[in-house]
Amino acid sequence: MSSDRIYSRIAGTGSYLPEKVLTNDDLAKFVDTSDEWIAARTGIRQRHIAAEGETTSDLAYHASVRAMEAAGVTAAEIDLIVVGTTTPDLIFPSTACLLQHRLGANGCGAFDVNAACSGFLYALSVADKFIKSGDAKTVLVVGAETLTRMVDWGERTTAVLFGDGAGAVVLKADTETGILSTHLHADGGKKELLWNPVGVSVGFKEGEKNAGVAIQMSGSDVFKYAVRALDSVVDETLEANGLDKHDLDWLIPHQANLRIIEATAKRLDMPMDRVVVTVDKHGNTSSGSVPLALDQAVRSGQVQRGQLLLLEAFGGGFTWGSALLRY
Ligand code: ACO
Repeated sequence: MSSDRIYSRIAGTGSYLPEKVLTNDDLAKFVDTSDEWIAARTGIRQRHIAAEGETTSDLAYHASVRAMEAAGVTAAEIDLIVVGTTTPDLIFPSTACLLQHRLGANGCGAFDVNAACSGFLYALSVADKFIKSGDAKTVLVVGAETLTRMVDWGERTTAVLFGDGAGAVVLKADTETGILSTHLHADGGKKELLWNPVGVSVGFKEGEKNAGVAIQMSGSDVFKYAVRALDSVVDETLEANGLDKHDLDWLIPHQANLRIIEATAKRLDMPMDRVVVTVDKHGNTSSGSVPLALDQAVRSGQVQRGQLLLLEAFGGGFTWGSALLRY
């Protein structure tokens, strides 16, 4: 039954992974680690690495073209582009502006959202509000990262975790179905537990080309906070919609660590065959991970139209968030 309510419906999904694959065994040739350790602690078996000169906006472009094709939408129809990324090509212009120009979507609004690994959920939430307010009818939402560019390959506790990739969705205004709610949270007080402490107004070193730019993380603290925050946001999402956990068809989580994913699935009483898992093949692609997983699930035929999907993510900031949608 139709209503006056406006939803943001996912009209098409797309994703892109760089060609080069780095397996755990490849990694163990230059990092003091092993396939056994990485797989047991994280579930990761391999990750994709952007080629030299391949940028975040390149990955975003390929993912976007696929999403637009799937949605049957041309560049001229796009009213707004929102890119979640923490690894932009440049400090400015934004990756969204670079993407807009390459797509030929001239004139529409375009901006980036930086919420680390929650970047896609934040971008999706912003885009949803633009559609619900009537300010936009068609929005391209992207999560894209070249995170391995800021990995210290000598630091085995972080080097094994990350990969590069991008995912995109085209949202269209719809009166029938789509995003039911989004929920965003942050706790800036925990910044040192997961961060890259270099920036324009802090830490740029004179005469050096951004030397020492690398992710730093307190792994076990991040693990504990992530599980707690995700438990709380999935409860909040179900409650806000008056739904029971057993109503969900799919959990599409941020792909950081299989053990974190399993903890959320347990909370939701969901068998793992209704949880989309790509972390084994992609590693942690930060903002790219949720739309990459969604696109894979759509294209493989796992996710079907009409099903209820719960998307969630947790990342540096800390930031975390969720989206509940009827696909
Ligand atoms: N290879 C082999 N050994 C390693 C490696 C490695 N890559 N890294 C650490 N070790 C060793 C440590 O030196 C330590 O050895 P010791 O016992 O002799 O001192 C041992 O393994 C255990 O180290 P811990 O850091 O305690 O290992 P833990 O079980 O906590 O696992 C991990 C580490 C995988 C990082 C885990 O804490 C984690 O997944 N945390 C979540 C972090 C995360 O996912 N961050 C991504 C960004 S945030 C997000 O997206 C959610």
